[in-house]
Amino acid sequence: MKRKILLLLVGLTVLSLCACGTPAPAGESSSQSQVSTEVSAEASQSQEPSTEESTQESSEEQVEELSLKELFAEHGIKVGTCLTPQMTSNLTVSKIITSQFNSITMENAMKPDYIFNKKESMATGDLVVEFGKDAIKMLDWAKRNEMAVRGHTLVWYSQTPNWIFYEDFDQSKKLVSRDVMLARMESYIRQVFEFLENNGYAELFYAYDVVNEAWMEDGSMRENNWSKTIGDDYLWQAFYFADKYAPETIDLYYNDYNEQFKGDTLVKFANTLVDEDGNFLIDGIGFQAHLYTQDDLNLYFQTVDKLAETGLKIQLTELDVCLGSYQHPQKATDDNLKKQGKFYYNLVNGLLERVDAGTLKMDSLTFWGVSDAASWRKEYSPLLYSVVYKPKYAYYGAMQIKEEAGF
Ligand code: GLA
Repeated sequence: MKRKILLLLVGLTVLSLCACGTPAPAGESSSQSQVSTEVSAEASQSQEPSTEESTQESSEEQVEELSLKELFAEHGIKVGTCLTPQMTSNLTVSKIITSQFNSITMENAMKPDYIFNKKESMATGDLVVEFGKDAIKMLDWAKRNEMAVRGHTLVWYSQTPNWIFYEDFDQSKKLVSRDVMLARMESYIRQVFEFLENNGYAELFYAYDVVNEAWMEDGSMRENNWSKTIGDDYLWQAFYFADKYAPETIDLYYNDYNEQFKGDTLVKFANTLVDEDGNFLIDGIGFQAHLYTQDDLNLYFQTVDKLAETGLKIQLTELDVCLGSYQHPQKATDDNLKKQGKFYYNLVNGLLERVDAGTLKMDSLTFWGVSDAASWRKEYSPLLYSVVYKPKYAYYGAMQIKEEAGF
């Protein structure tokens, strides 16, 4: 393992700066509650490091040069973060991203809520796709900075405007028929890939979440307007159209949370996503990996192994690890942050072992943000960098530097 470490003097002084989260009210937040991440990101991005911290940072830079992207590249894996426009315009954050990461996923800007033009849809009678300024700005940023991009996401029950499901795009009318919604879905997916290809962005993309969060933990399908209008085969149809219109170079993913409780459901589902010749319409399963330090890693790896046996790729797509458990989140004490460092170490270690052994096809792992200052779960300190952008034990855990990871 190649590491550019000249001296590891960062040590406890720096790491003590990481103990900065506030206690999380028990049971307050589900890992899937749709918190407005944009607001929290904006509010927290204004928190620039103080002069004292900046001085410390520059002396650290002289002694240490570490990079996640180099480590993961040795195993054929891209390493990513989610991205907001606030992150690209914050120098501290963008510097970390360009030096440590080589892939981005837009936190919001490519979700259905942000890419339809209602007025044009009503005028033309077809669902009109129009990417917003933020998405374009971040695609250009990705291009300039040689970042690969994960597309997120096409078909989802959440962050999707309701009007797309109604006759004449008018919610005072009825839901459209199956045929009309299928035609809208096909047109939507076709336009997304056409836009990316016609504007020179398609080659940035290596993976795209075609469907997000369709399955429940009890194995049932989540009801939503897609299933109500099209029927339960909306999932197959979405992959069929994505397979028809996406360039070959973009892998098609199903993405979900609480994946460790959905293993059998996802295996069964993946096996239905085949064409008339029995070939997969899907390339991979995205494990969102919104985890907790008290989660059972054995169960997690059992699920990874189960899905890997399908022959599909697996990516971790939104990794963050909160302190404690979902029922009992914990404070950001030094001890708890050390537990988080160990968890990240063990998680990444188990994945790399499988990749190196050839039992897991994983070409990308994405963290859902950079710093605890701007995470959607910021109260639970889930990321690799502290609120003042210092690497935490978690960072060293992900970097597989055991002696700095809280052990
Ligand atoms: C889910 C979605 C993400 C994001 C998070 C919350 O995991 O897939 O896009 O909305 O919830 O930030």
